[in-house]
Amino acid sequence: MRSKVTKAIFPVAGLGTRFLPATKSVPKEIMTLVDRPLIQYAIDEARAAGIKEFIFVTSRGKGALEDYFDHSPQLEQELRKKGKNDLLDALKDTNMDSGAIAYIRQHKALGLGHAVWCARRLIANEPFAVILPDDVIAAEKPCLQQMVEAYEETGGSMVAAMEVPPEKASAYGVLDIKEDMGSLVSVKGMVEKPKADEAPSNLAVIGRYILTPDVLRSLNKMKQGAGGEIQLTDAIAQEIEENRNVYGLRFRGQRFDCGSKAGFLQATVAFGLSRDDLKDELRAYLHDLMASEKAAQ
Ligand code: G1P
Repeated sequence: MRSKVTKAIFPVAGLGTRFLPATKSVPKEIMTLVDRPLIQYAIDEARAAGIKEFIFVTSRGKGALEDYFDHSPQLEQELRKKGKNDLLDALKDTNMDSGAIAYIRQHKALGLGHAVWCARRLIANEPFAVILPDDVIAAEKPCLQQMVEAYEETGGSMVAAMEVPPEKASAYGVLDIKEDMGSLVSVKGMVEKPKADEAPSNLAVIGRYILTPDVLRSLNKMKQGAGGEIQLTDAIAQEIEENRNVYGLRFRGQRFDCGSKAGFLQATVAFGLSRDDLKDELRAYLHDLMASEKAAQ
């Protein structure tokens, strides 16, 4: 029997400089799409996939994240007194069981691979997931759940994959495909942020991973790669070198790059339009906006 994936690492140590000045005092992961912080979307997705232990790799200035997942008895008491049960329910999703959540500091900004490696002692010898909260994925079946289901068949390591236009490949880890089986591909190599003319395919890695503990052993030996950082992509590529299986899953769903301002705005509109309490007003506003832009042309 394959061991179940019950642990997930959330690398949240980044400075979020692209969102300054907001991120001067607010961690990027607390910024909200409608009324829920980015990190809440990541946690919900992890829970839906069966994750029970949540490991945050943080850095200085991320205290608000710890507070966010803490219980808030005073606030809850006030809401109960006022009979605001819908808000109480919304708060419940933010509560974590005691011992289910751990915070590890990444003391130096040495890259995603290093951030994951910082959590090695909490992972020990089990497969684990990695979720990058910047990548928000709207999907009927949450992306990580799709991956866990596929992984139960394949084993090995698995990354979420999405087709990107060639000129965008240099922003991603890109897969070198061994065999294309439709939604699943097997991978014979991975390159982090290749130049457009050097990308081995147009299939890019999106921030969801299921990894074997062997990847942590590779990270032990990893040197700096693209951008002078220790890259997770390189450690996964090392797995392939050592003849272990790595797969990419073309997930079903829409991915928003909430690490960029345009992506964040698009996600805000999309999530707003999916909400019963907001969609009519928002749609009417967007409609009027488009009409007046057209009239002005
Ligand atoms: C990271 C990974 C990259 C992946 C991307 C997905 O890059 O290193 O392989 O394609 O996330 O969002 P970053 O966006 O942190 O530069």
